[in-house]
Amino acid sequence: MGTTMIEPIDTELVARLYAAHRGGLDEARRAQRALLTRNSSMRAQLDDVEAEITYLLLRHVRPEVVVELGALDGWSTSWILRALQDNGSGKLRSYDLVDGALRQVPDELAGERWSFTRGDVRDIGPDVIAGADYLFIDADHGARFARWYTAQLLPALRSGTPVSVHDVFHQRWARPFGEGRVVLRWLVGRGIEPFTASRARAPRVYAQLSAVKSHTGLDDPVRSGRRNPMIFFRS
Ligand SMILES: C[S@@+](CC[C@H](N)C(=O)[O-])C[C@H]1O[C@@H](n2cnc3c(N)ncnc32)[C@H](O)[C@@H]1O
Repeated sequence: MGTTMIEPIDTELVARLYAAHRGGLDEARRAQRALLTRNSSMRAQLDDVEAEITYLLLRHVRPEVVVELGALDGWSTSWILRALQDNGSGKLRSYDLVDGALRQVPDELAGERWSFTRGDVRDIGPDVIAGADYLFIDADHGARFARWYTAQLLPALRSGTPVSVHDVFHQRWARPFGEGRVVLRWLVGRGIEPFTASRARAPRVYAQLSAVKSHTGLDDPVRSGRRNPMIFFRS
């Protein structure tokens, strides 16, 4: 990695990154909006703030290898690829049971920087994260899947590797018996406090970042969703 990320992932860091990468993010937002307009069948899952935090962290840590579990139609994939494109370095490996992303991610964005593997990531096993400098998880939201990756993948990451997990805080509390509960328990056991901009879980963070977006002129929506249920942490 070009930058060793020693700072905690928190509101202060994210606010700083909104300012530092304002131009690139503005372009990325325009391109993502255009992609969604052009590919109207695309099922896009990430909300704006969590997608932007993903973009900004990737710009900041400049990973060589990003691994994405769960691409669906390539919405998160294309956000990640834009950050790597803007960095001028880094590769993305995406995994999914379905290959909609192959049809939706623009060729010029994918370039040489993207590879996609269709199948159940559990069949690949821990090799799936070989060399990963950033792990993005938005796949199966059941507890069993989370037990698999908290046991097999997270402990195998290099210390300090950024990880994000989607669909944890749709509400103030993670859904009982789901992925979120398992990963949050794993984090508590290691004394790791995840960062989230979830409107339900962390309304003050959401309000602070909304103010930053407004201040930097990045507040016109790309998508309408405002829940931002993703958590971010360093392994
Ligand atoms: C919520 S969607 C991903 C949305 C995408 N990240 C986005 O931003 O639009 C979850 C995806 O995970 C995939 N998935 C679920 N279980 C999986 C598994 N065991 N291995 C690989 N992919 C899986 C599903 O096929 C689905 O496309």
